[in-house]
Amino acid sequence: CPSSQLSRSEGVLCSLIGCLSSGATVEQFEQAKSKLSALKKDPGNELKLKIYALFKQATQGPCNTPKPGMLDFVNKVKWDAWKSLGSISQDEAREQYCNLIGSLVEAEGGSSAQVAATPAGGGATYETLLVSTEDDITTIKLNRPAKKNAITPEMYNEIIAALEQAAKDESKFAVFTGAGDFYCSGNDLSNFTKISEGGVQEMARQGAELLRRYVRAYIDFPKPLVAVVNGPAVGISVTVLGLFDLIYATERATFHTPFTQLGQSAEGCSSYTFPRIMGPTKASEMLLFNKKLTASRACELGLITEVFPDSSFQSEVQTRLKAYARLPPQSLALSKQLVRSVDKERLYAVNDAEVERLTERWTSEECFNAVMSFFQAKAKL
Ligand code: COA
Repeated sequence: CPSSQLSRSEGVLCSLIGCLSSGATVEQFEQAKSKLSALKKDPGNELKLKIYALFKQATQGPCNTPKPGMLDFVNKVKWDAWKSLGSISQDEAREQYCNLIGSLVEAEGGSSAQVAATPAGGGATYETLLVSTEDDITTIKLNRPAKKNAITPEMYNEIIAALEQAAKDESKFAVFTGAGDFYCSGNDLSNFTKISEGGVQEMARQGAELLRRYVRAYIDFPKPLVAVVNGPAVGISVTVLGLFDLIYATERATFHTPFTQLGQSAEGCSSYTFPRIMGPTKASEMLLFNKKLTASRACELGLITEVFPDSSFQSEVQTRLKAYARLPPQSLALSKQLVRSVDKERLYAVNDAEVERLTERWTSEECFNAVMSFFQAKAKL
């Protein structure tokens, strides 16, 4: 696909020069528009659609126009692309638009400094994430709001890369959050419907390897990890929270791990961290019996650090994080490592055991039937 070729091959995205700390200015947006028309190479249909959608979202907000008829192919594809951006804000769309054009300019050998809005510390660009470093904090924002930030294989790989980048950059800690009204809806269940050439066993083997690396990236992260849970969280986005150092949530957030409902089993080292955090029976109520926690209950049980009113969530949390970012970096990192190192070998072993169990679950009839039911229920709506 042309978009992934571009993003993978083009490494360096932008420097801070010309970028404002909070997204793109109107001027940068205008510059990006003129740079787009000056591009020498056709970026390909997929990217053109993405640019179109971001432009519409940036200038008009979320798509509220009626869906074009079935036979109006071109307008339907454009409408779908715009609609897929969900409720991301105009500011965010403008920022993504500038970044995308910036990477295209860069790909042609030009300077993107004038157009790119998000300074990505190590220079990598991402298709499914927004990664930025500002005020000594690297923020990794899951960016598939239309699918409630469900995690695809590409996204798992990008998160691993973003964590590796954040481990090396100048930031003092890394923050995870989600775009739109959800934090994350967990593993993208359509991953199960895309059976590769090698069949179900091969798909399970590849999924297991990816999951093992994904969870390891959290276990190995050397600086404090902070979650800013901006809405409901499901599945693996909840289980890895046991590996985070600080978790702030809006009162709208919920925490749900419906594994057995899906014929699956726990991951993210939660089979070890959850019983230690909240006690074995509360953990089992979540991991075996699919109990969904409200934010305040999750806080009472010690799964998260603090809950904030939704109206002041972002501002209160940002104030706290900016204050923490004034702390000395070595002391922060070394203290985190001290707290976590005792468990490291144990966590590797737990991760391996969970992945092994899931590999078997993914090829089971129970899992197959549950995933099919999810999509059948959606189809009936
Ligand atoms: N995998 C794949 N697609 C997902 C998804 C997931 N985990 N979570 C949400 N989506 C998709 C929906 O299918 C829908 O797609 P569509 O617009 O093409 O129909 C879109 O995201 C919006 O979700 P929707 O279900 O319409 O929103 P909602 O607010 O009614 O419900 C959830 C949100 C997350 C509660 C619901 O989508 C859900 O239960 N998802 C599955 C969560 C899950 O089981 N994750 C795995 C845990 S192990």
